[in-house]
Amino acid sequence: MAKKIGILGTGVVGQTIAAKLQDLGFEVMVGTRDVAKTQTNKERTPMGGAPFSEWHAKHQNVKLGTFADAAKFADVAFLCTNGAGTLDAVKAAQPENLKGKTVVDISNQLAFSKGLPPTLLPQFSNTNSLSEEIQKR
Ligand SMILES: NC(=O)c1ccc[n+]([C@@H]2O[C@H](COP(=O)([O-])OP(=O)(O)OC[C@H]3O[C@@H](n4cnc5c(N)ncnc54)[C@H](OP(=O)(O)O)[C@@H]3O)[C@@H](O)[C@H]2O)c1
Repeated sequence: MAKKIGILGTGVVGQTIAAKLQDLGFEVMVGTRDVAKTQTNKERTPMGGAPFSEWHAKHQNVKLGTFADAAKFADVAFLCTNGAGTLDAVKAAQPENLKGKTVVDISNQLAFSKGLPPTLLPQFSNTNSLSEEIQKR
């Protein structure tokens, strides 16, 4: 059975899944672009969640690493990144680190640049989707 979970994404979705899986007894590592920045960032997440540093202080057994560290660590990985940044996150994770592993994609192809409600990112609409682009990589 998978023991190690890699969560790519530090927002409220990544935090929620990381906390629950750790409570269930899994070893969890969360991945981010810049570990030092994420550890010290005191801003709330875009969806109003706790700053990662505040959340991490209450979940100190969850490891924090780069996207590549979390992908390498994982038996099973969860993609919990902003839709517009997900392919960059997958690239930073280095797809060979995810080869042969189950990857649960929770990201949405949403654009928030024009405010709420969000629209679909046009490059992932109609004849394409973010999930298809993730699978190609
Ligand atoms: N399926 C569902 O039911 C459901 C429900 C809610 C949300 N979602 C989706 O879950 C995902 C996460 O949502 P969230 O609110 O927790 O967080 P979010 O603010 O949408 O995303 C935060 C994460 O995205 C990363 N990120 C942002 N821009 C990036 C870029 N240019 N390159 C690489 N990484 C980038 C951030 O990296 P850093 O850590 O480096 O800052 C952070 O880890 C979203 O796609 C959202 O739409 C799905």
